Amino acid sequence: MEAALACSLPCPPSPSLVNRLPDGFNHLAAGRCARRTKVASVGRQRVLPATCLFHGPCDSGDIRIFVVSDLHTDYGENMEWVKCLPTVWHKGDVLIVSGDVAETISNFELTMLQLKKRFGSIFYVPGNHDLWCRREGGKFTDSLEKLSELLETCNELGVQTAPKSMGSVGIIPLFSWYHKSFDREKDITSVQIPSLEMACKDFHACRWPSQLSSDDVALAHFFDTMNEKNLELVQEMQKSCSQLITFSHFVPRQDLCPEKRMLFYPNLPKIIGSDFLEARIRSIHVENKNKSGCHIFGHTHFCWDAVHDGIRYVQAPLAYPKERKRRMNGGEDWLPFCIYHKGLTDRLSPSYWSDYYSINKRDPDNTDLAPWVSRFYRSRTGPFS
Ligand SMILES: [Fe+2]
Repeated sequence: MEAALACSLPCPPSPSLVNRLPDGFNHLAAGRCARRTKVASVGRQRVLPATCLFHGPCDSGDIRIFVVSDLHTDYGENMEWVKCLPTVWHKGDVLIVSGDVAETISNFELTMLQLKKRFGSIFYVPGNHDLWCRREGGKFTDSLEKLSELLETCNELGVQTAPKSMGSVGIIPLFSWYHKSFDREKDITSVQIPSLEMACKDFHACRWPSQLSSDDVALAHFFDTMNEKNLELVQEMQKSCSQLITFSHFVPRQDLCPEKRMLFYPNLPKIIGSDFLEARIRSIHVENKNKSGCHIFGHTHFCWDAVHDGIRYVQAPLAYPKERKRRMNGGEDWLPFCIYHKGLTDRLSPSYWSDYYSINKRDPDNTDLAPWVSRFYRSRTGPFS
């Protein structure tokens, strides 16, 4: 990451950092964003992030907890990144993987085997890509069957998918799925935005039983209910642990995503988050009034580190190779991010959008497109224009 980034705020955000589009939609902006990155990066000083301090063996024997999301190891570069992680530094450490490991179960297993060789303990919750069925050769009737197989694979590999205490820290995976009504902010209507079904591959690559529709809250509610079986474990941890860390793949609050006018796909908030999730996070952390709550998430591929209503929310995604090339700091040398060592660590710094919103007030009623979004839609040709 680059130190001068924070100094550039509250200037308009770099368009190169606003290009997170849903799956299958990224290609529409990739070329022009790559060119802009060079311009946006001029004059910014590269520094080693503080998290590098934790990238080495832990001599003291204290527990360290690292986090990463969106490994997407179906991309060869990402699988290589996993294989290049040090084999001896993290033997006593915990790694939290917040979903979207791989599209195929074979790549998922290969990835987890690699991580198991490197980390003492691994925690995981499934993301949307993990439940895609399109490249499984008809092995699964639907995404629920694949979910069962994923959880069974984790069980066989010794990957934790249920709450567990690690020393005095309670780590709590939370199952979740998104629902459209999570988005409460004013829609952008000045340009023609592709439908969710066109923009998001989940609608084609996942298969659900007929009673679990993506059109309402049924899927989000179903996944949230999966957490009920762990209530007693969580209650035990609330009493006995000095620190609780919850984690999910999806986004619990809309203010953990940039405003719609900043996004090349302004309807992104309709396919990222769950109100059930935030309610569950609050119910877990509020019991620990005198302790600091922390929640890890993924999915949008925006690095994020911010405190809202007393809970710290962190996203540390590996993301797609082409997205890393557009970042201020690619992620190769600061991920996984150390979130806990003798207490919660300093914030992930700098995180472009959470830094931006620490200075600039969110104004969701403003639907004037950011200049880079406006240019993008003006320049588009084809079926969406
Ligand atoms: Fe995702």
